[in-house]
Amino acid sequence: MFNRKSRQNKRAIGEPQVDKDRLPMHVAIIMDGNGRWAKQHNLPKVMGHRAGAESLRDLVRYCAETGIPILTAYAFSTENWKRPQDEVSNLMGLLVEYLYKEVEELNENDVRISSIGQVDALPSEAYEALMAAEEKTKDNKRLTLNLALNYGGRLEILEAVRKLAHDAAAGRLDPVSIDEALFSSALYTAGIPDPDLLIRPAGDFRVSNFLLWQIAYTELWTTPVLWPDFRRAHLEEAIIEYQRRERRFGGRHN
Ligand code: FPP
Repeated sequence: MFNRKSRQNKRAIGEPQVDKDRLPMHVAIIMDGNGRWAKQHNLPKVMGHRAGAESLRDLVRYCAETGIPILTAYAFSTENWKRPQDEVSNLMGLLVEYLYKEVEELNENDVRISSIGQVDALPSEAYEALMAAEEKTKDNKRLTLNLALNYGGRLEILEAVRKLAHDAAAGRLDPVSIDEALFSSALYTAGIPDPDLLIRPAGDFRVSNFLLWQIAYTELWTTPVLWPDFRRAHLEEAIIEYQRRERRFGGRHN
C-alpha cells in the first residue's frame, strides 16, 4: 500500500523542502540514459531499461504519496522503432511485464493508467495489456500515470490538423473557430492540463519530439543523473527549483 500520509521528509534539516501547497499539477519525464547506465555497469542494454522501469515505479509512488495528480512518462517514441529489433521487443516485453505486474497495486492505490500516442500500432500483446490496465483503472482519481507509447509530438500535431481539416472539409467545423482550446482538444492530451514541469535526465538539453504543443510554457529541468539512477530525491530537487522560479507565461514581471 502506498503511504497516504505525507512521508517522513528525507531532506536534511536546513535544506530547502518541497512546498506541498504549490506542487506542479502535471510532471512530464523523458526517461533517458538507460543505455549509458547499462554500459557503465557492464550489463546488457535491456538491464538499463529494466532499471529504468524501477525508477518509474519509485516516482509513481512519490507522486501518489505527495499529491501530484498527473505524471506523463515518455516510454517509447515513434523514432524508437529504428532501434535494433531485439531492443524493441525487449522494451515491449518490459512494458507488458510492467503493466501486468503493477496494475493490481496501482489500482489498489487509486492510480489510473492512461496513454498517449498511436497505441493501436503497438504489438498486439502490448496493446492488449495496456487496454486491460486502462480499463481496470479508469475510475481511479489519485494519480494519472500517462504513458507516452509510440508517441511523437509532430505526429500528434499532424493528426490533430488532419482531423480538424477533415471536419472543416465536411462542413462540420468553421475554420475561423479553430482556436488554441479547440486545437488542444484534438490532441492525444485532450482534457489534460499542460505539464508544469518537464524533466530530462542524462545530461542532454533536447525535447526530443515530446509534447511539443503542450510545453509552450512548461518549466524545464535537466540533470546529468541517468534515468535508472533517478529517484524521488531528484524529483524533489526538481520541484524545489520549480517552486523557486517565477512563471510569467509571457506576461510582464510586476
Ligand atoms: C531511452 O534510453 C529510453 C527509452 C527509449 C525507453 C524508456 C523505457 C523505459 C524506462 C522502460 C520502462 C517503461 C515502462 C513503461 C515499463 P536510451 O536507451 O536512449 O539511453 P542512452 O541514451 O543512454 O542510450
